[in-house]
Amino acid sequence: METLRMPVILVLVATIFSSMLLSNPFSLAQITTYVPPATPTSLNSSVIQGPPPAPPNETAQPLPPVPSGNESIGSTTLDTSQPSIFFSIPVPSTFLGVSIELSVADEIIGRELDNVNVAFLNYMAAVAMRAGAGPVIRIGGNTQDTAVYNNTPVGSVLRKTTPHGYDPVTGAPYTPRIEFNELLFDIVADAADMLGSEIIFGVNMVDLDADFSPRMVSDLADALGDRLLMLLVGNEPDRYSKTGVRSANFSIPDYIDEWGQLTSRISSKNEKIFVAPSVCCAWTTNQVMTENGMQERYAERIKAISAIKYPQSLCSVKPTYGHAGYLNQSAIVEFASYDQDAVAAAVAAQVPYYLVETNSASCIGVAGVADSFTSTIWGVNAALQLAFRNHTGVLFHTSGQSTLYNLFTPPAHDSKTRAWITGPIMYSLLVVAEALASTDGENARVKDLGVNSTTAAAYAVYDTKGEAVKMVLINMANDPSGNNDWEATVPIGQGRTSLRYKSLSAPSVQEKEKISWAGQSFGYYSDGILQGEESIEESNDCQRGSCRVRIKAPGVVLAFLSELADSKASVGGAPKFESNGTSDASVVLSSNGSRGNKGGATSKGSINSATSNGGGDVSL
Ligand SMILES: *[C@@H]1O[C@H](CO)[C@@H](O)[C@H](O)[C@H]1NC(C)=O
Ligand SMILES: *[C@@H]1O[C@H](CO)[C@@H](O)[C@H](O)[C@H]1NC(C)=O
Ligand SMILES: *[C@@H]1O[C@H](CO)[C@@H](O)[C@H](O)[C@H]1NC(C)=O
Ligand SMILES: *[C@@H]1O[C@H](CO)[C@@H](O)[C@H](O)[C@H]1NC(C)=O
Ligand SMILES: *[C@@H]1O[C@H](CO)[C@@H](O)[C@H](O)[C@H]1NC(C)=O
Ligand SMILES: *[C@@H]1O[C@H](CO)[C@@H](O)[C@H](O)[C@H]1NC(C)=O
Ligand SMILES: *[C@@H]1O[C@H](CO)[C@@H](O)[C@H](O)[C@H]1NC(C)=O
Ligand SMILES: *[C@@H]1O[C@H](CO)[C@@H](O)[C@H](O)[C@H]1NC(C)=O
Ligand SMILES: *[C@@H]1O[C@H](CO)[C@@H](O)[C@H](O)[C@H]1NC(C)=O
Repeated sequence: METLRMPVILVLVATIFSSMLLSNPFSLAQITTYVPPATPTSLNSSVIQGPPPAPPNETAQPLPPVPSGNESIGSTTLDTSQPSIFFSIPVPSTFLGVSIELSVADEIIGRELDNVNVAFLNYMAAVAMRAGAGPVIRIGGNTQDTAVYNNTPVGSVLRKTTPHGYDPVTGAPYTPRIEFNELLFDIVADAADMLGSEIIFGVNMVDLDADFSPRMVSDLADALGDRLLMLLVGNEPDRYSKTGVRSANFSIPDYIDEWGQLTSRISSKNEKIFVAPSVCCAWTTNQVMTENGMQERYAERIKAISAIKYPQSLCSVKPTYGHAGYLNQSAIVEFASYDQDAVAAAVAAQVPYYLVETNSASCIGVAGVADSFTSTIWGVNAALQLAFRNHTGVLFHTSGQSTLYNLFTPPAHDSKTRAWITGPIMYSLLVVAEALASTDGENARVKDLGVNSTTAAAYAVYDTKGEAVKMVLINMANDPSGNNDWEATVPIGQGRTSLRYKSLSAPSVQEKEKISWAGQSFGYYSDGILQGEESIEESNDCQRGSCRVRIKAPGVVLAFLSELADSKASVGGAPKFESNGTSDASVVLSSNGSRGNKGGATSKGSINSATSNGGGDVSL
């Protein structure tokens, strides 16, 4: 296997794209000089076709009420110098990343060495171009804890050894058992090198004494090298007793002991490479890390703290909410405060805190909401709120065919096209990467400016000197009449006379297709490449150091306040990755992506997390 891997890495490291990302991960100016490959991408977007997305069903998912009278935001003057609001800790431009369910990692990233899925690379490169480095990619989830690492060839990089199944009543998916081999690591390493991404990889803890675990971890480390950011041992261990993989009395101290045993078995020394505890439901992070002493006991192994949390669980007995619940600032603040105590403890101990898995709702997402512009706006807002609340990273989960909240969905096994489907939440990664991209080479800090409205939010982004360099303005009202457009007065840097900004737009919060960021769109069916010209708007409605800008209802604006931020506003052309040989055809032919799900978990409860408190994800 060594012979397969080495030449690939050498070739890849030599590519202009990755070497630029490696040499200067925060220089956007340099990245805009990236020269795309001489041959354009082989995918001709005009031949991509498929059925249009289903029209919205307003009976199933009513639009949120239109604010009226004193609920309408109207005009607001924003102040970036409020000393009563504390800055976040510095946050990386790669703050918003991706979590990929292990069982579909091959479907999404690729099945062959030297043949990483180009659509995946293109989507991720659009983020990398903006952040100055590839997004953090976590591979894991429920299926990591049923995964057998098999070093003998199994005929494919990854296979399910028990079938997918669905709860006949709720539609909630059962987690299949899977088997994978080290080719997956080489493919992931390949992608990570091309994108300049770091990887968090999941280790099976359910099979505590499995003899394959040490070998798996050493093969992984060999394949990824410096690209391996962290190992995540055990996914949602607080659900182990409920799912029957541990006895009903499995306790936090039992978990901590087992975690210690397994981590010492898979790493020879006390290596600071682990992220824990990744609890979602029955236990809190604070109970595990502080009250039961895990942080203190394993301080020399724990590189970061991880949590898994969704605003609502479709597999739980809790009633679900729709658009209005995601377009409500109080609800977003409430969600982002889920682990306040544990985050504060982590900040005090100077340990980074990652929300390693989230999305709008667990299981498969809310139909008509998870796959609409609501999720784009929610994604931007929730990510910036979590940045303000001192997280170091947030990873949006993405999974297989039947999942609605995906960032992107590869073609099904029987698809006649090679086109992927863009999930609306994918656009939020672009906006957040641009908002947090450094202006001075250091990580930026974030403040929630505390707009007094349920349907609007404003975040200011500061450089190391404390100068406000950018602002993100979010209007969550849904009102095409214009009566709920927001007129915000924004302070601009000294000596400036106009304000440039970019807009995230769609006709309505229920839109699935016509979504654009700064005038560009991936398209519903897509090869992951942004289409159209980048458009930067300008406001000259300025006086006394402030400019007025209009944020449509619904819409998001990223305003460039400082001279330096403004000079870096333009992102320029994105790289286009090319597919090798017959790769895409074989992806279509051999993929059995379609889960055959009838689609749609309901809220009636499920075998997997019927009494969870809204956290657990049992998607594939
Ligand atoms: C893409 O396909 C369309 C329709 O088949 C064709 O008219 C067009 O010339 C093609 N464009 C390129 C760049 O190949
Ligand atoms: C819209 O949703 C309602 C309520 O869930 C359902 O009864 C109806 O059949 C749906 N309509 C369509 C066209 O799917
Ligand atoms: C908003 O308007 C409603 C009636 O239109 C009124 O009852 C309420 O007191 C107002 N709220 C504030 C805070 O002014
Ligand atoms: C295609 O193969 C070339 C040469 O091995 C390699 O540099 C390139 O990264 C490959 N492309 C993909 C998308 O894997
Ligand atoms: C937990 O339950 C198992 C059997 O289900 C039993 O063997 C074990 O002693 C129990 N442990 C504790 C700490 O009660
Ligand atoms: C917004 O969310 C908060 C917190 O969950 C809730 O109390 C409130 O009722 C919601 N407001 C609306 C208008 O839905
Ligand atoms: C984030 O950490 C900073 C630095 O310790 C602190 O001042 C701030 O209050 C924290 N933010 C939140 C929302 O807790
Ligand atoms: C927020 O707005 C309400 C009216 O919508 C007003 O009553 C209240 O005083 C405002 N609060 C602040 C802090 O401006
Ligand atoms: C792929 O899935 C379809 C149904 O979704 C099934 O009919 C077919 O047999 C499967 N093919 C393989 C190779 O497993």
